[in-house]
Amino acid sequence: MTMSRRYLMCRPTYFAVDYAINPWMDPAAPVDVDRAVAQWTTLYELYRSLGHTVELIDPVPGLPDMVFAANGATVVDGRVYGAQFRHPERADEGPAYLEWFARNGFEVHAAKSVNEGEGDLLLAGEWILAGTGLRTELAAHAEAQELFGRPVLTLQLVDPRYYHLDTALTVLSPDNVAYFPGAFSPGSQEVLRRLYPDAVLATAQDAAVLGLNAVSDGHRVVLPSAATRLAEQLASKGFAPIPVDVSELHLAGGGPKCCTLEIRGSLSERSEETV
Ligand code: ARG
Repeated sequence: MTMSRRYLMCRPTYFAVDYAINPWMDPAAPVDVDRAVAQWTTLYELYRSLGHTVELIDPVPGLPDMVFAANGATVVDGRVYGAQFRHPERADEGPAYLEWFARNGFEVHAAKSVNEGEGDLLLAGEWILAGTGLRTELAAHAEAQELFGRPVLTLQLVDPRYYHLDTALTVLSPDNVAYFPGAFSPGSQEVLRRLYPDAVLATAQDAAVLGLNAVSDGHRVVLPSAATRLAEQLASKGFAPIPVDVSELHLAGGGPKCCTLEIRGSLSERSEETV
C-alpha cells in the first residue's frame, strides 16, 4: 500500500476569529496571523518532506476559515462532492473549492444538502464514516452514498466541542481508527465498538486539545503536539506519531486534519505542473 498522498491546502493569509460558530472560537481573544501562517507552513513543509504532494488553493479575503480545507469538499475516486456550509459566514467557501476542482479537471457535484466536506465524511477503507448532529445533515449521508457508491455509516455527534467527525475520530488505516467515545451517542459508540474492536480510544484530555484532528497516511500520523498520551498510544500500536504545534489554528477550533483535504483519484496530469 502506497503511503504517498495528495492533499489540498489553503494558506491562512486572511485567518481571523471574527465570529464564533464553535465553542473554541472567541472573537474577543487576539489572533496572531503571522503565527498561524508559520504553523501552517510547517505543516505544509512536513507533508512535502514525507513525500506527499500538496496542491494549493488561493485564499479569499473575508473567508477567515478557508484555511480549513478539509471542509471544502469530499473527494473519492476522482469524484468531488461539494460542501454546503451550515453557517452563512462560511457559505462562499463551498463554491470556491468546487471551482478549484472543476478548473483542475475533476468531475464535480454541487451538494443538495448541508455537509461540511471531510470534516464529517471520512473515507475508511471501503466505506465512509459520516458525522451528523451538529453540522452535516443526515440527507447528505444518503447523497454521498449515491454519489460515491460506497456504504456510508452514520455516526451521531453529541458534544458541541466535537462539532465535526474529524474532531472526534481519526482514520488511522483502512481498517482502524482512533476516537473519543464521549463525542458520540450511545448507539454510535456501540457501532464503533463493533466496527473497530482494536481502535485507539483517546482520553478526554487528548480530545480536548483536538488531538484526534490528525492526518494518517496509514503509518505516519501527524497530530497536535498537545495530545501527548495519544501519541504514546499510537506508537504502541506500531504507528509513527509526528507532533506539530497548531495552537494558533486551535483558536478557530482547527488542527492539522482541518487544514488538509485529501484528493483521491484522478487529478488531471496538467495540474501536476502547477505544483
Ligand atoms: N472555525 C471552523 C468552523 O467552526 C473550524 C473548522 C475546522 N475544520 C474541521 N475540519 N474540523 O467551521
